Amino acid sequence: MTIQNKSFEIFCGTGGVGKTTLATSRALNLASKGSRVLLVTIDPAKRLKDLLGLTGDFEGEVTTVEINKIKLDALLMSPEKTIQRMALSNKTPDLASNRIVKILSKPYGGMNEILSLVEVQMQFESGKYDVIVLDTPPGAHFLDFLEGINKIKSFFDQSFVEIFSFIGTKTATAGKKMFGVGLINKVISGGMKKLLSYLQRVTDAKFIDDFIQAVQIIYQSRDAFLKGLNLQDRLKSRSECNWFLVTSVEQGKAQEAIEMKAHAAHFIHHDHFLVLNKCLEKEMNEWNPSDSKLLAIKNSLEGREKELKKNLKANFPIVLEFPEIMSRDPLEHVNDLTKSWNNYGT
Ligand SMILES: Nc1ncnc2c1ncn2[C@@H]1O[C@H](COP(=O)(O)OP(=O)(O)O)[C@@H](O)[C@H]1O
Ligand SMILES: [Mg+2]
Repeated sequence: MTIQNKSFEIFCGTGGVGKTTLATSRALNLASKGSRVLLVTIDPAKRLKDLLGLTGDFEGEVTTVEINKIKLDALLMSPEKTIQRMALSNKTPDLASNRIVKILSKPYGGMNEILSLVEVQMQFESGKYDVIVLDTPPGAHFLDFLEGINKIKSFFDQSFVEIFSFIGTKTATAGKKMFGVGLINKVISGGMKKLLSYLQRVTDAKFIDDFIQAVQIIYQSRDAFLKGLNLQDRLKSRSECNWFLVTSVEQGKAQEAIEMKAHAAHFIHHDHFLVLNKCLEKEMNEWNPSDSKLLAIKNSLEGREKELKKNLKANFPIVLEFPEIMSRDPLEHVNDLTKSWNNYGT
């Protein structure tokens, strides 16, 4: 079984099965073969940071790291940094003190997924990478988001653009100062007016300014947003994206993967890979205990894993197997699994 090179690779699955570890090892394996690789994680758990030894300052910035003599570009998604980058490219003033932007760009502020797509699209367009490997947060949330993209698109296409095209023209001609609450109240729909006057009552003038500025940035960056949303088509396409649905031999995890696939059936294209992590088969084959109790344990573990694989092969077109690494050190897991990818290499 050989995995073909594509422009994007996505690792998804439930919690704790090894997505981050496998995505990192995959990226390292590709880099070791000469591919220009960017590894992106949008997992707010920030495990990649620990794995790669990156500290706070690197968050949201592409950073070249070296693991086991392999160099690799990595990016820990920081929604705040992405918004700032978009604002910068639109020559919008410094956003550091904008409270609305701060709220929106919190890890769970609701913009995480879309800003990740915007960021991945911007990185892809830079032309610097042959492949972008994406490590996603646990669960189906990211997949749900991808499926829901059309709703966001129509939001941008219709209501949003309508409401803000007026603001856009005013800003372009009159600059930020014209952008006062009074003007906005006069021109926008009743709902928006109500919202602003409510905000004015319960907050302060700076907050309203922040709100308007945030809206303005999103409006001015709508091209970047729409392009990010269009990335969905690429990710859906067989020729451009490899999907890895990760699971492990631990109890119950495989069933979660089967459910997740059913859930995202119309999004993940047919020739995706089920990655079964932490397999014991090879270790078990080499283990010949003479003690009858140990032998019973061995047989039980072997039997359980065989059953699991049979079940998975009935549910997934291609199953990739990765061994349990007998170590407590996460970096050792990454290093060993990097070599394991050679079993599926060119
Ligand atoms: N093949 C493996 N063998 C042993 N430990 C592993 C293996 N893959 C991952 N791990 C360990 O399992 C834990 C969870 O892995 P992680 O990649 O963070 O999962 P996820 O990103 O899916 O939540 C980590 O401690 C990691 O080092
Ligand atoms: Mg993770």
